[in-house]
Parts: sequence; structure tokens; C-alpha cells
Amino acid sequence: METRVATHAKGKVYVDKLFGTGMAAKKATAQYGRENVIDASMGAITDDNGTLICLPTVEEQFRIMPMEEMISYSPVGGLPDFLEAAVKHTFGESRPDAYVRAVASAGGAGAISNVIWNYSNVGDTILTHDWYWTPYSTICKETGRYLETFVLLDEEMKFNLNSFSSKVNNLLAKQDYLVIILNSPNHNPTGYSISDSEWDEIKVLILEEAKDTTKTITLVIDIAYIDYTKDPVSARSFMGKFGGLPSNIVVTFAFSMSKGFTVYGQRTGALIGVSSDKDVIEEFANANLVTSRARWSNVNRGCMNILANIYKDEALLKKVNAERQECNALIAKRADAFIKEAKQIGLKVLPYHAGFFITIPCDKPEAVSELLIAERIFVAPLSKGIRVAACSVPVKQMYGLAGKIQYAMVRANTAKS
Ligand SMILES: Cc1ncc(COP(=O)(O)O)c(C=O)c1O
Repeated sequence: METRVATHAKGKVYVDKLFGTGMAAKKATAQYGRENVIDASMGAITDDNGTLICLPTVEEQFRIMPMEEMISYSPVGGLPDFLEAAVKHTFGESRPDAYVRAVASAGGAGAISNVIWNYSNVGDTILTHDWYWTPYSTICKETGRYLETFVLLDEEMKFNLNSFSSKVNNLLAKQDYLVIILNSPNHNPTGYSISDSEWDEIKVLILEEAKDTTKTITLVIDIAYIDYTKDPVSARSFMGKFGGLPSNIVVTFAFSMSKGFTVYGQRTGALIGVSSDKDVIEEFANANLVTSRARWSNVNRGCMNILANIYKDEALLKKVNAERQECNALIAKRADAFIKEAKQIGLKVLPYHAGFFITIPCDKPEAVSELLIAERIFVAPLSKGIRVAACSVPVKQMYGLAGKIQYAMVRANTAKS
């Protein structure tokens, strides 16, 4: 095969399996009608008629925004009012007692990519949980890093501290910079949230490892789904724990407007850094700003303005929060319907606290997915299970879905391979 890309770029092919499943679901919907297709593959909130939801106040803010405010360039680091709002939104009542800086990013993905770039070296290994959002590995590959995983859940379906601890320890024996990505609360794909006491245990462990001051440990807390929870205040309470840490522990939050403000394609987020050391936080802001300039320059100005405007007006903020809670109630109703039935029929589901997705662990996820597609049911096959998008399946289609999945699992397991 003729190849002209440079050595490091050879063999790169992006297979977006989920996009393929989504397209197939759309085609089936057009052919058989919405009521005859279950599209549980999509990671965006739709109403019970299958229409994508935009929070009404967010839409209104877009529509009334002067054109100039939408199309002008912005500072690479982000509009100051946006950054202030992003920090307020991220921490709520639980701002850690430390220096905090934010740098705008192209969504949460951009924030994660920037922190990996700046807090690890080429050839280093990044650590995350075994159930994870696949772009983590794409980002690692693209930037010359490796991704290693620990087992997220122990036998009691709690955070697997032993697995986490041994991986952290092993990696720090080999490298001086360790970036750890933890997606919580309302993790994708499981809906699991690390509890406050589990965060305490994680903190103790990291503090112990950080006694070796030649090491730098960077926590990346991916909070993409934080607002999809009954109580957004207590969902943030763990954040207060990150004050007063030694300077070789850098805590970062990947803030994203994609889900929380239903502006998925508008690519707006921020990397928020927390450190007890003023120099470390200055360095954080400088390094990430340069990476942003090199990668995408500035981000979506209209969207940054929307967040800034919402946070400048308490009434607007209340409205947005109330609208989001309606979405939450919708998702919770769908998830409850599924999980109740799953319990009744003995279908194992990974611990779901809240969020967009529910995961059913299984063997042969591809085969299970194929069998479901034959019944016009589209789920996301993962490496060790299948993911059902509670954010987008109408509640009436949730009834009976657990049984259909269980039946497909039985057939996949009994089929000759
Ligand atoms: C786990 C997780 N993290 C981060 C993101 C970031 O999304 P975005 O880059 O659109 O902000 C997503 C989006 O699907 C996600 O599922």
C-alpha cells in the first residue's frame, strides 16, 4: 500500500463504531418508523418523541445574542467572565481552599488532551479505570502515550482501591509523571459515582505516593456528567477535599458544557487546575494556554458568552437549573424502569447512580449487539458489555428492554462461534 504520512502517523485509522451504530439506527427509524426502533446508542438527551433537547434558556440566549458576540475572536485562554463562571459552576459550594486557574478548551475532550500533553512525557503511561470513555485511549495514542487500566469495581461493586493502588504504585516505580483520569460522578458508561469516603481513600493513597517529591501526580477528574444527578450540590462535595495538598499533586477538572448545557457540538469547556502552590498554578495556566493556541486557538465565543450571561443573572441560572432537573427526572424515570425490570429478571447491571448510561456486563458484546439489531434495537457494544443510553430511550421503550437484552445474551452464548 502506498503510504506518504510520516512514520509516527502510519497506520492511523479511526473506526467510530458508535457512529456506525447511530447511523444504522437512524436508517432503521426512517425505514420502519420511530415506534418500531429502539435507539439506545445515542449519548445526548432526547424527549420521549426522539427529539434532541436543548435547554430552552440556553436556546433563547443563543437566539438573542448579538452576531458580533458570537463570531468575534476571543482570548485563547477564554473570556474572563466565562472562566469565572466555569469555576463557579464546577465547584458550586465546594471550592477547594487552594489556588485555582481555568483555561478554556475545546470541550471536555480538549481539556483531557491538554492535561495529558502537559503533565506526562512522550512514552509515559496514563492510568484510568477499565470501563472508560474510548477517546482517552485515542488521545493517548495520538500523543505518544500508553493507556493502562485498573479494575474500577471490586466484588462488592465498590471502587476497587486495591487494583487502583497497585497500578499507581507500579507506574510510579517506572515514571516520574503520572496522570490519572477518574470519570466521576455518573461515569460513562456505567453511571457509577465515586463516594466521598472512596475519595478520602484515594486521597490518602495519593498523598502517600507523593511523599516522594521527585514524582508528580496529576489527577484528571472528568466531570462531564456531573449535573445529571438528583443533588448537584452533594455531587460536588468531594471537591472540597483538594485543598492544602503538596505541590507535587496537581488536581484538574475537565469541565464541559456539552452535556450540562446541552451544547454538544459547540465544543466549549475548560481545564480547571487546583494547586496549593502559586508557581505551580501559574505554570499550569501558561502551559495549557500555549497548547490551546497550538491546537485550536480560541474556542466558541457564543457558548462562552452563554455561560457567562447565565452566571451573571441569578434568575437565568435558576431557570437553567430547573430545566436541567426536568431532563434529569426524565432520565431517572427511564433508568428506574430498566433497572427495576433487570432486577426482577436477574439481569446483572453495573452500579448505576445517575447519568446518561447504564451498562450490562456480558460476554460477546458484538454478538449480543448484532442479535439486538436484528430486532431493531441499537445499543453500544463495549469491550466487556453493552451500554444502554437512558438519556435517549423513551420510557415506554424501556419496558421490556432488559428482557430482550437478556434473551440476546443467552442466544449469543449458546450460538456456535
Ligand atoms: C466520559 C466523557 N468525558 C468527557 C466527554 C467530553 O465531551 P466534550 O468533549 O463534548 O465536552 C464525554 C462526552 O461524551 C464523555 O462521555
